[in-house]
Amino acid sequence: MAPASATGSASDTAGWTSRKGFVLAAIGSAVGLGNLWRFPSEAGANGGGAFVIFYIGCVVLIGLPLLLSEVLIGRHGRASAVESARRVARESKASRHWSALASVGMWGAFIILTFYSVVAGWVLYYVGLFAGDVLANGVGGAFQGQSAEQVSGYMGGLFGNAALQIGLHAAFMAVTIYVVMRGVTGGIERIASVLMPAFFVLLVGITLYSLATGDAGAAFSFLFSFNPERLLHAPVMLSALGQAFFSLSLGSAMMIQYGAYANRNTNLAGTSAIIASADTSVAIIAGLAIFPIVFAAGVDVAAGPTLMFQALPVAFQSMPGGALIGLLFFVMVFFAALTSSVALLEASMVRAMEVFGQSRAVTSIAVGSVIFVVGIGAAMSMSDADFFNPLALLPFFAGQNLFDSLDSLSGKILLPLSGLLTAIFIGWFADRRLIDAENGISGGMHILWRFLVAWLCPVAVGLILIFGLFPDLLG
Ligand code: TRP
Repeated sequence: MAPASATGSASDTAGWTSRKGFVLAAIGSAVGLGNLWRFPSEAGANGGGAFVIFYIGCVVLIGLPLLLSEVLIGRHGRASAVESARRVARESKASRHWSALASVGMWGAFIILTFYSVVAGWVLYYVGLFAGDVLANGVGGAFQGQSAEQVSGYMGGLFGNAALQIGLHAAFMAVTIYVVMRGVTGGIERIASVLMPAFFVLLVGITLYSLATGDAGAAFSFLFSFNPERLLHAPVMLSALGQAFFSLSLGSAMMIQYGAYANRNTNLAGTSAIIASADTSVAIIAGLAIFPIVFAAGVDVAAGPTLMFQALPVAFQSMPGGALIGLLFFVMVFFAALTSSVALLEASMVRAMEVFGQSRAVTSIAVGSVIFVVGIGAAMSMSDADFFNPLALLPFFAGQNLFDSLDSLSGKILLPLSGLLTAIFIGWFADRRLIDAENGISGGMHILWRFLVAWLCPVAVGLILIFGLFPDLLG
């Protein structure tokens, strides 16, 4: 078999133009709704400091070793994630079925994008709301003259309007498809090189504003003071690990895919460390941007998934310049979401190109359209509680709407399963010389890395999988 090259047809390029391009694109993929929307809401719901400390531990001890394992497979294979994994397995004289680690992850990425794009559509809606408010009322506090109920009610209003939700989801998918069609260099790398620097400027600016005008003290003690009792609390530990996984884009074939575009002499260990620390810093800084405002306004920090869409807009009402800051905030979230969604599409698109042998443009449109259609179902299920959810026929998803089922199918099953297979494969089955030649570390670090990949990662990720599948075991 002669698989297509990693970057597909001749009209495409050979990969990242520079290490900086790789790093920015990989950070762009990792930094997304996971950092800005999911991390603060998980930290809020899990009691703050204990969660944060455990999260950092998970990133260093589990996330980083797995991240290096994934980019290493990609760089050695230099094809789609699935084909790369198969090559590494073949050269290691291991079963070619190890490529399942990438196929499972690829399906995970595919499914994440179906609902990720719907949430990104909500973000666009809030960009529109705040932009309208700035145009109508200037840059003072947001939504002046409206009650807090009215402002937090915008979200319900959006859910009540399925056509609007679907339209926003369509717009977001159209932009995502367009970028992926343009290729690795002309699309993904270019957009990351523009949007990521803009993102960092916005993030730092908003955080300084928030610390200066909000309740910085309350935010710091919430995020950084911990109570040891909560630290050893199993559900908090598991959500921290799950969050680390999602945030670093692990187990979704994507870091393998981006690794495939990396240059031969890029140091993979160093690059992985940069990606992981940037991602973690953004999550924590996002907490420092959001919580001072939320505490100052006295809205509920444990609101969960609605924190960003309901509590935060209410909080912006009482902040000086809240309308403008709110607008900038949601523009920033949009940038982060877009650099992640292109990565999500790229992972399954490249595999589809190999399988169906069509051009990048045709395949991007086809795969993106299928994702769009499944996402319509996810959006509808937020609008209509009775919307049919075929997954709910399975006991595991009973009682969930389609949106939540897609979230748990990817987050609780496919991503951890792919991560578990990756750890076992790299830790136990892959050829050592091949790995040693790729990873860019030696000596004690190398021994430590091997130990973490072979022992700690399988056990920890196996636990997320088991407890995700059987939550009752946690009591
Ligand atoms: N890391 C992304 C975020 O924090 C979400 C994500 C998970 C992702 N897996 C991915 C993004 C694969 C791109 C590719 O929002």
